[in-house]
Amino acid sequence: MIELFLNAAGPDPEVLLSRAHDVILPGPNGHKPPPVTPSQGNLHVGVDLGTAYTVLAVLDDQGIPLAGEYRFTQVVRDGLVVDYIGAVDILREMKHTVEARLGRNLTHAASGFPPGVPMAEVRSTANVVEAAGMACSDLIDEPTAANNVLGIRDGAIVDIGGGTTGIAIFREGQVVYTADETTGGTHMSLVIAGGADLSFEAAEEQKIDPAQQSRLFPIVRPVMEKMGTIIEKHIRGQDVETIVLVGGTSLFPGIDTVIAEITRLPTRVASYPLFVTPVGIAMHDRPAGQN
Ligand SMILES: Nc1ncnc2c1ncn2[C@@H]1O[C@H](COP(=O)(O)OP(=O)(O)OP(=O)(O)O)[C@@H](O)[C@H]1O
Ligand SMILES: [Mg+2]
Repeated sequence: MIELFLNAAGPDPEVLLSRAHDVILPGPNGHKPPPVTPSQGNLHVGVDLGTAYTVLAVLDDQGIPLAGEYRFTQVVRDGLVVDYIGAVDILREMKHTVEARLGRNLTHAASGFPPGVPMAEVRSTANVVEAAGMACSDLIDEPTAANNVLGIRDGAIVDIGGGTTGIAIFREGQVVYTADETTGGTHMSLVIAGGADLSFEAAEEQKIDPAQQSRLFPIVRPVMEKMGTIIEKHIRGQDVETIVLVGGTSLFPGIDTVIAEITRLPTRVASYPLFVTPVGIAMHDRPAGQN
């Protein structure tokens, strides 16, 4: 039963996320470990259509990550699906790749949406999942999904992705406030590109290269400070004592320190922050009839 691992004393989040990392991202040799596919039992599938990356994550019946795909895509902007056909094509391809690896079909999936996106747009995310060949079993807001994994009772989760920063405040484990702002890692890449007269793609490549990040830090610091100011504005007066960062942009070393300075709150990056939200979305997927 899925409830076994929703917000519960299920697998340690760190173990879960490190496993998600191993099965979704290819290793240094370009390969992924062969999945140990259970021949029976439900599979739980999560789809996260992001501004920068689309993620498909598959968990076994115990909530343990089995396989997944992570692809650079430009099908969503500010939480809205802007390239429907492109999104369906890429998701279908990702589904086929994972099915071939697992030797099992993916028949249903849950999908996520950033808080604040109008319901009509949220439905278009479900339509993408359905058109790619999976029944959309649930639609879940991204901060709630992230907290399925992290299990934070009191504090803020800030998801800094490519195009958006999602802010969610939790009290006694429940979301009490959410906001979504259009700033993210894409803006850092644009600043790098503009400063050095590079293409966006070249800037993006430099930005995620660990060997170049300390040189780039002073260049992207003002963008991080702006993110900090936005976060501070949302959590001011809300009785928040700690901030946990997730999303790909939180992998830029030093971003936690800048945000802590601006908000004056202890700030940490979740372990393996890239797949917190997709794994949390997958935890919500269950076959029809088990709602
Ligand atoms: N190691 C890294 N260092 C710095 N930035 C990184 C790293 N890895 C990924 N990123 C950045 O993280 C961003 C993508 O993060 P994520 O996958 O969480 O976003 P998304 O879900 O596609 O976007 P959004 O949530 O805004 O819709 C990109 O801007 C990417 O350049
Ligand atoms: Mg995201």
